Amino acid sequence: MLVWHARAEEYARLLRDHLPGVRIEATDERRAEEVAVDFPVVLTWRPPAGAFDCMPSLRWLHAAGAGVDHLLERDDLAPGVTVTRSHGRFGEQAAEFVVGYLLALLIGVEQYRRDQDRAVWRPRPRRLLADLTVGVIGLGKLGTVIAERLDSMGVEVLAACRNARPADVVRRVYSQADWRSMLRHCDALVLAAPLTPETRGMIDREALEVLPEGALLVNVARGELLQDEALLEALRHGRVSAAVLDAFATEPLPADSPLWTEPSAWITPHVAAPSEVEPIVREFVSNYRRFTEGLEMSSVVDRDRGY
Ligand code: OXD
Repeated sequence: MLVWHARAEEYARLLRDHLPGVRIEATDERRAEEVAVDFPVVLTWRPPAGAFDCMPSLRWLHAAGAGVDHLLERDDLAPGVTVTRSHGRFGEQAAEFVVGYLLALLIGVEQYRRDQDRAVWRPRPRRLLADLTVGVIGLGKLGTVIAERLDSMGVEVLAACRNARPADVVRRVYSQADWRSMLRHCDALVLAAPLTPETRGMIDREALEVLPEGALLVNVARGELLQDEALLEALRHGRVSAAVLDAFATEPLPADSPLWTEPSAWITPHVAAPSEVEPIVREFVSNYRRFTEGLEMSSVVDRDRGY
């Protein structure tokens, strides 16, 4: 098998401990020219365009991350290749990020720090997280843990996902058909959905206009879910009072993006849920055993659905 990743050696070292006797090659995914051999199994994240053209034997690709939109849209990945994805600790990581930023915004961490710089003593009123209704878009591994953590802090959680279904910690789950009717209840909106043809651009001007005045927004999913122009307008008019943005259609966010200088935008460099080698290797190894025994693997991506 081939580990084709920016952190290939780290992955390969651990994999060799777990899978003694298996031939494991490792290469940095930026160096496509080194991969002249055809492998049946590849663990990767962002292999160069056209990389799989020279791998007619490829049967299984494991993505070292959660969102596989960038892999599924490639035209060098044969339809018969099984794609699996990782869950790592992405849910826990994203949930801490969401809760942390919501709390920081409500508490006014930035304002008090600025006051401190000028020796200003100025108490401000504050809303409690527990008084908020938060809508979570996407109720997969990420959205579910985010909803659980928010619920444990007393938040009323609503959610939207492809097919509405009951969920323990969510007061109501809206379906793809009626998710817009959730928005008017949301003091904060969290985007945790995969990028698919249905979710691309879903947070448009119309959606943002339905949010209560001054709503908060956190995007830990994909930049393409949001329409940037509509968001900028909502931020400038105060419809959205703060947007925490961890993902962008183009990454790194281009230096001339107006988001950088928008005072109500909080930009982070795609760090809400970073890939950790150990949990991903554990998931991969358990699937590898299933793969070699011909058993059904877990976390298999439905390539038509897009996640
Ligand atoms: C992921 C990501 O999907 O890092 O795992 O964006």
